[in-house]
Amino acid sequence: MQLFRKLIIAGSLGVLLSSGLVLTTAHADLDFRGTISGDPLDFTGETETPQFKEFKNTGVNPYNGDQEAMNKGYVIFATACSGCHGHLAEGKLGPALSDDYWTYPGNRQDKGLFETIYGGADGQMGPQQGLLEPDEILHVMSWVRGWQTEPAKTKKAVEAYEKRNG
Ligand code: HEC
Repeated sequence: MQLFRKLIIAGSLGVLLSSGLVLTTAHADLDFRGTISGDPLDFTGETETPQFKEFKNTGVNPYNGDQEAMNKGYVIFATACSGCHGHLAEGKLGPALSDDYWTYPGNRQDKGLFETIYGGADGQMGPQQGLLEPDEILHVMSWVRGWQTEPAKTKKAVEAYEKRNG
């Protein structure tokens, strides 16, 4: 009887602990919302790289300052963004992303920048959801962010691209 009781208590403790863990993981993600709409962003079906998982948790882009990631980010920027934002993000149809002025001040933080790119903004700035993987957006962001934090690395990424593509 005594032993049976102990087992029941141990068993319920186990259930409590594991459900607690599940809850902790489920609630650890930050609340991502569209920059304009304010609606929650829906990541259903997106590829979960370790970096994207970490980012959803911390709101800090793990690729920041990583030269290799910035190089890859510029390859994506050159195809998906430069047509509107200029080849050095100096601004064209869309605003410059290389200075420290942001229409949406939330873009100073990585979380806000991701929300703007993934969910889109006004007019021609359509959502990149479905066009780019979240992990690719993080790569692009590391290149864009470099203009404020590590311009030498950002320029290096452009040079590497131009060397390869002539
Ligand atoms: C078809 C043209 C077009 C493309 C392609 C495009 N953008 Fe934009 N983007 C715009 C326009 C126009 C705005 C201004 C929208 C606004 O003010 O709401 C903008 C705004 C932004 C902003 C907000 C800037 C601020 O000052 O707050 C960011 C960040 C941004 N774009 C990043 C990107 C990235 C990264 C890509 C590529 C993945 C991209 N855009 C692709 C046209 C484009």
